[in-house]
Parts: sequence; C-alpha cells; structure tokens
Amino acid sequence: MADEIGLFEAIHTMRAMRRLKPDPVPDALVRRIIEAGLCAPSGGDVQHWRFVVVKDPETKRKIQIPYRRALDKLLPRYRAAPPPPGKTEAQKLRMLAAVEYLTNHLHEAPVLIVCCLVGDFAKSVGLEKMSGASIYPAVQNMLLAARALGLGATLTTRHLLYEKEVNEALGMPDNAESFAVIPIGYPAGRFGPVTREPVAKVVFLDRWNNRWE
Ligand SMILES: Cc1cc2nc3c(=O)[nH]c(=O)nc-3n(C[C@H](O)[C@H](O)[C@H](O)COP(=O)(O)O)c2cc1C
Repeated sequence: MADEIGLFEAIHTMRAMRRLKPDPVPDALVRRIIEAGLCAPSGGDVQHWRFVVVKDPETKRKIQIPYRRALDKLLPRYRAAPPPPGKTEAQKLRMLAAVEYLTNHLHEAPVLIVCCLVGDFAKSVGLEKMSGASIYPAVQNMLLAARALGLGATLTTRHLLYEKEVNEALGMPDNAESFAVIPIGYPAGRFGPVTREPVAKVVFLDRWNNRWE
C-alpha cells in the first residue's frame, strides 16, 4: 500500500499505543498483521504458535477482568518504582495513567490477539530461560505490522498473573500456553518517536564495560 511507512520509521515510532478507538478493524488488516507474525523465526522452525483473534465482547470482557485484577495487585509496585531510564516522574505518571486507561478499556479494543504456544519446545528440553522465545519474535513482527498499517497496539503480558482464567475463557487445551495479549485498534493517541537509552550507555566492545563508540 502506498501509504505504508518504511521499516525503520515503524521501528522508531512504535510506541505502546494504549488509547484505542473502538471502531472496527477490517479482518483483512488483522490478517496482514498475523501473516507478518508468521514470518518470524521459531526454534527449530517448529512453528508451534497459535493465535486467537478475539472479537466477541463477552470473551474480551473475560480477559479484561483478570487483567484489571492483576493491575490492582501490581499498581503499588509500579507507583513506588523509579521512572524508566531517561524519563521523569511526571512521564512515569503519564505512562501509568495510560496503563490504567488500557486496563479499564481492554475489552473495548476491537480486536485482541492472544499469542500462544502449543507445548513450549524450549521448556520441554529444559531451557526454561528460553520459554516464550518462539512466540515473542512473532509478537514483535505483529506490533510493527500494526504500526505500518497505522494501527495502534501494545505488547501486554499482565494477564499471565491469572492465565488460567484467560485459558478457560478461550477454551485452550492443557498443552497450550498464552504469552501475550495484543489489543489492536485505530489509535486515539499520536504515534511519535520512542525514547530509549543511548547506544553509548548500553553497548560494549569485546568486554563488559568497554564502551563502544
Ligand atoms: C515483556 C513485556 C511485557 C509487557 N506487558 C505490558 C502490559 O501487561 N501492559 C502494558 O500496558 N504494557 C506492557 N508492556 C509494554 C511496556 O510497558 C512498554 O513497551 C514500555 O513502557 C515502553 O513503552 P514505549 O514503547 O511506548 O516507549 C510490556 C512490554 C514487554 C516487553
């Protein structure tokens, strides 16, 4: 599509878009987002991923309720935490307000994509640390695809505190696990550049702490 943006612009402006309009998103766009996800690598190319596109209002609500409860549990920690690197307390509070907004309105997003693995291969071979590593690249591809299509999205995982409730709401089998819920919709906020720590602070050459510049 002529109005799509380039890859680097998408990468540099893909903020967590937590304020979404409830307007429906055409299935054709959701399909393109998922097809982008399916281009991601998976360990051994096993492609054990499954994606549940949730549009049913009652099912979305069954996901939102535990998602809200999880925020109630975590909010005191979020409030007490220092601001993210390079950000002020005021910026942190604005982010928390957006987090709270998404939490209260999750079920109003036109589409939720629940990203799952059937039998996490990494875990099955004792590589606990790699758990989820075969689904998160697909998640990132989908976030970038949404951005390229002018849609807002956020990687969320907080439902995992009460994942059984979510699994039940979706009728998932015992050998399937969810790893992320991506709410997608037309953005109510504006896209803009992400702010992150500079290369000089986080990259080393050859040895830890040897600055790369
Ligand atoms: C593993 C992981 C889990 C996350 N879970 C949530 C979540 O449950 N809810 C949420 O609103 N954002 C969640 N986020 C989004 C981060 O909060 C967001 O990427 C970060 O604040 C940077 O925001 P920005 O990209 O808009 O600068 C998660 C991000 C990651 C990587």
